[in-house]
Amino acid sequence: MSDIEAIKDRYLEQIESAADGDALEAIRVAALGKKGEISLLLKTLGKMTQEERQSEGPKINGARQAVADAIAMRKEAIDTEALNARLATEKLDLTLPPPSTPKGSIHPVSQVMDELAEIFADLGFSVATGPEIEDDWHNFTALNIPDTHPARAMHDTFYFPQTDEDGMPKLLRTHTSPVQIRTMMDVAKQTDGAGKPIHIIVPGRTYRSDSDATHTPMFHQVEGLVIDKGIHMGHLKWTLETFVRAFFERDDITLRLRPSYFPFTEPSAEVDLGFTVEKGRRIIGGDPRSENGGWMEILGSGMVHPNVIRNCGLDPDVWQGFAFGCGIDRLAMLKYGMDDLRAFFDGDLRWADHYGFDALDVPTLSGGVGA
Ligand code: DAH
Repeated sequence: MSDIEAIKDRYLEQIESAADGDALEAIRVAALGKKGEISLLLKTLGKMTQEERQSEGPKINGARQAVADAIAMRKEAIDTEALNARLATEKLDLTLPPPSTPKGSIHPVSQVMDELAEIFADLGFSVATGPEIEDDWHNFTALNIPDTHPARAMHDTFYFPQTDEDGMPKLLRTHTSPVQIRTMMDVAKQTDGAGKPIHIIVPGRTYRSDSDATHTPMFHQVEGLVIDKGIHMGHLKWTLETFVRAFFERDDITLRLRPSYFPFTEPSAEVDLGFTVEKGRRIIGGDPRSENGGWMEILGSGMVHPNVIRNCGLDPDVWQGFAFGCGIDRLAMLKYGMDDLRAFFDGDLRWADHYGFDALDVPTLSGGVGA
């Protein structure tokens, strides 16, 4: 066996037994590196005679090729072995539950607004909104609450320091009723004073300077307004009855309308819901006249005052209507059992986790309804 054959066989043997990539690389450098044994042999070809080169050239080149191929093959084998070893030791248990990620929830106020929008949509109402920064005309005057009227004292209003062109300051709306005015005025404008039927609810934020367990400076109301021909108190009562029965999901809820006073309605009625006490908790529904029953006030309502209809540019001899205003936060507390209103707006995530609604379980319209 020639020297070259022996050199080649030695390297092939070493390659075969190389344990890892590093050992293989050391062999490659020793044989085929710049100063490698086979590389140096290749360089000797230059100094040979033509005959010598013809016989030695193919042998040396053949040895170089054989060693290079063997290294490549061995490298692939080592890589495959390494991968198999990793696959055997590294395991992914796909049956484990995924790590929990914090998840937001729908605030009960948004949830109730969505429920209101859905219930009233079934009755043919659409949702209207208006600005939270109001002027004196829409919040008071057009609602038949003149400058000197004691009803203005019913609201502890947040006024802005600047005044409007009429010399009156802007204010944070004290109720959602100004949206009645905006809607009726829009309709009067669109129809040149002729008018057309209106059926709206107005969920939104309202503001009064008040703070205790049942009052917060910012709170939520829903206003209802129906304007049509031949509307009377019977329509009001049926609508409210249908609404509370759908909202509290009970058919045995009784309503009581008590005569009251609001400047923007005549006649006006405060509406009470019949409740009964079940297991120490007040439940809306049942017989309010029974031993453990009673009435709780829930909203204000009435027939829209002719002055209000006239103030908006419509003819009260042609158009009549009813309106109501109700606290949304209160509705949420009654339906879902919270007892402190202030917690609604503290932003405590533990409260939100407990009382909030899963957006995936309960599809909601929140985005579109929050004023
Ligand atoms: N705006 C009244 C308030 O905030 C509530 C109200 C009462 C609204 C009677 C109405 C209504 O539309 O008819 O106290």
